[in-house]
Amino acid sequence: MEKKFRRIGVLTSGGDAPGMNAAIKSVTAAALAHGVEVVGIIGGYRGLIDNNVKYLTTADVADIVSRGGTALYSARCTEFMEEAGIMKAVETCKKHEIDGMVVIGGDGTFRGAYDLSAKGIPCIGLPGTIDNDITATDVTIGFDTAMTTGMNLCDKLRDTCESHSRCNVVELMGRNAGYIALNVGAAVNAVAVVTKEIPFDKEACYARMKKLRAAGQQSFIVVVAEGVGADFGEQFVKEIEENTGIEARFCRPAHILRGGVPTLRDRVFAAKVGAYAVEMLLQGKSNIVICERKGDICECDLDVAFTVDRMYKGKMKPEELDKHSPEEIAYMEALCEERRKEFKELYDTVELICC
Ligand code: F6P
Repeated sequence: MEKKFRRIGVLTSGGDAPGMNAAIKSVTAAALAHGVEVVGIIGGYRGLIDNNVKYLTTADVADIVSRGGTALYSARCTEFMEEAGIMKAVETCKKHEIDGMVVIGGDGTFRGAYDLSAKGIPCIGLPGTIDNDITATDVTIGFDTAMTTGMNLCDKLRDTCESHSRCNVVELMGRNAGYIALNVGAAVNAVAVVTKEIPFDKEACYARMKKLRAAGQQSFIVVVAEGVGADFGEQFVKEIEENTGIEARFCRPAHILRGGVPTLRDRVFAAKVGAYAVEMLLQGKSNIVICERKGDICECDLDVAFTVDRMYKGKMKPEELDKHSPEEIAYMEALCEERRKEFKELYDTVELICC
């Protein structure tokens, strides 16, 4: 039987991402439609600790979907990693009779959800990060907008590179994941994409650039993923000049990638997962992340989501698999394999068509 919900809490945590507002709107509208009140937590888990909340009405969320950032503000809260911080958050939930939480963010945000649900507050996670580095889901809220922003920036750089017969090395955010860099590289026809996931051959890159220049090509874009390292891009500019004779410049758009009007894709995905999360909470579910797999919205157990993420990122200790069934382990291994394959296939395409 469905549990009678009084209130649902909603928060955004970690780095903001375009489309988070569409998720807030969707959660709020879906809950209100079920006669459940919505408590917006201001500033992520910090707001839950400090009892900084705002009850959300339809009017509060009426015009937020087209705005970047998050109307609920965001933070990375170290106090929430301590038992005392978690207990203060639980107190706030009890005070406002919050029967379940929807938390929007990345893996750090889900860790918080896990801790909170262990204290009796049901939590459901929505993947919200530009980095797309949550292995359990094909896409995250904000990824599409960040890629589009990166593509538009590279197109602008291409214009000026063409006029000056130059190369521009562009470093794009993504933490340790190269998804944004790789996809933008594919979209702008980069001469090379440098990521942590795939070893990079500098000599082959110089040879390709020299060959293309000899054939008359004037401009070159090299996309470097942030995760490769802070100094790589700037240093590579010098090396390109020394080894090819082609003048080069460096660009780091940094947080610009996190801002701006969310794309249709991000808004629609956020709308779907927001409403889905409310349905799941009302059905009494907890400890799950709402994902997209091959175009379908689905749920993934939070523990499985953590483990598969650590598995993919090479951080998992063998004993972490002890609590998982053979079916779960096989699923996680297959998913990691699929992610690697997808990445490599796109990388190979970029190599093939680069210029
Ligand atoms: O996770 C999103 C992200 O923008 C990463 O791409 C980047 O590495 C990090 O956050 C930057 O964090 P901050 O906003 O704390 O500088």
